[in-house]
Amino acid sequence: MNQKKEYYFPEGFWWGSASSAAQSEGAADRDGKSPSIWDYWYSIEPQRFHDQIGPQDTSGFYDHYKEDIKLLKELGHNSFRTGIQWSRLIPDGQGEVNQKAVDFYNDVFNELIALGIEPIVTLYHFDMPLALQQIGGWESREVVDAFTDYAKICFELFGDRVKFWVTFNEPVVPVEGGYLYDFHYPNVIDGRRAVQVGFNEILASAKAIEAYHKMELGGKIGIVLNVRPTYPRDPDNQGDIEAALAKDIFFNRSFLDPCVKGIFPKKLIKFLLENEVLPEYSKQDLKIIRDNTIDFLGVNYYSPSRAKERETKLELKEGLFMPDIYFEDYVWPEAKMNPYRGWEIYEKGIYDICKDIIENYDNIPFYISENGMGVESEERFLNEDGIIEDNYRIDFIKDHLRWLHKAIQEGANCMGYHLWTFIDNWSWCNAYKNRYGLVSLDLDTQKRTVKKSGRWFKELSDNNGFAE
Ligand code: GAL
Repeated sequence: MNQKKEYYFPEGFWWGSASSAAQSEGAADRDGKSPSIWDYWYSIEPQRFHDQIGPQDTSGFYDHYKEDIKLLKELGHNSFRTGIQWSRLIPDGQGEVNQKAVDFYNDVFNELIALGIEPIVTLYHFDMPLALQQIGGWESREVVDAFTDYAKICFELFGDRVKFWVTFNEPVVPVEGGYLYDFHYPNVIDGRRAVQVGFNEILASAKAIEAYHKMELGGKIGIVLNVRPTYPRDPDNQGDIEAALAKDIFFNRSFLDPCVKGIFPKKLIKFLLENEVLPEYSKQDLKIIRDNTIDFLGVNYYSPSRAKERETKLELKEGLFMPDIYFEDYVWPEAKMNPYRGWEIYEKGIYDICKDIIENYDNIPFYISENGMGVESEERFLNEDGIIEDNYRIDFIKDHLRWLHKAIQEGANCMGYHLWTFIDNWSWCNAYKNRYGLVSLDLDTQKRTVKKSGRWFKELSDNNGFAE
């Protein structure tokens, strides 16, 4: 008989999922919350959102958190990443704190802890309070300082219980979406402004880390980056190799290096100098970034990135800088695609990221903070008992866990695996087009039903892995 292959994980491994406050709470205009850029953008351009469903219609966590947290337990969670909405806690972005929000977040964290679920809390997940966007958003130094104050308030209010903090979720996304490729508000396309936004986010993160460490609350603070291993079209072609390297520097190393090592990649500085788009900064800023690096890293991994040497000259709008002058995106014809999201699925990418962290980032403690699969029209897979049989999701998770397991065997310092996400939720412009949850949500009735993957996830967590 063939011996079963075993994929068991280190003791204490985090099994759970991630969500974000703006994507799950709903109650967007209740109990003192002010609009974020999402509420505002939806109010002026609802047609940019799938089926015109906006941020007020998210999965109702604000009203259903008790039930949802019980569900997390049923799904085998020992940890869960959620977030605080800045525009709920401090409606104007700076100044007065909203007591109703304090009560709500206190309740959420207390419930989680009471059920033995470690809360990991994100401070910023794409959701700038509108009042702060109106004074420049991440382009403004005032907003960097407002963020530092907001972070300190969160640590003071909840830091006695929350022991794992995340300053930013995917800080490169507001840069790409808001200032390069037009998929987030404020829909600017201008590389110079994008560089400033990225720099200010890194500085804001370092300042929050500095404040947290000074408070000596005995927990840890990190950042969540969407790391996309970047492969050249032809690994033997110098032009393609350089293109992939440039793309990697702009979208991965630009954040990884300062957050983990406290310095910016030399090559990035060279690119920015060549185009005269260095951000405004002071020596003091660089010192803050150098001295306040993360304690742990969260890695979101969905899809790899591919590049080729530019084949066509990029027409720059009004001559404004775009990083794409150094590369062109490449779609590998043999790629396995998730057709609903248009994202390539490449399981080995997760292993390549782990090796990169071992080799280039001092094997810093990290965890997989998001991985997952969005699928459209999942009701196709309903069985007679009314349960969605999402075998594809179970396979997707296993396919990634095998590679993660191999990397851990080879020394990766990985603390856990979180799925995006526990319940179908609102995905920004895609709204409810693609469903990611272990639990399905009926948007009309708010009914929650565990999918097949949810039951399987519980076993996975109970067994601390799987055998096959
Ligand atoms: C990530 C993001 C999440 C979620 C997910 C799935 O990039 O952090 O907020 O939307 O994508 O689309």
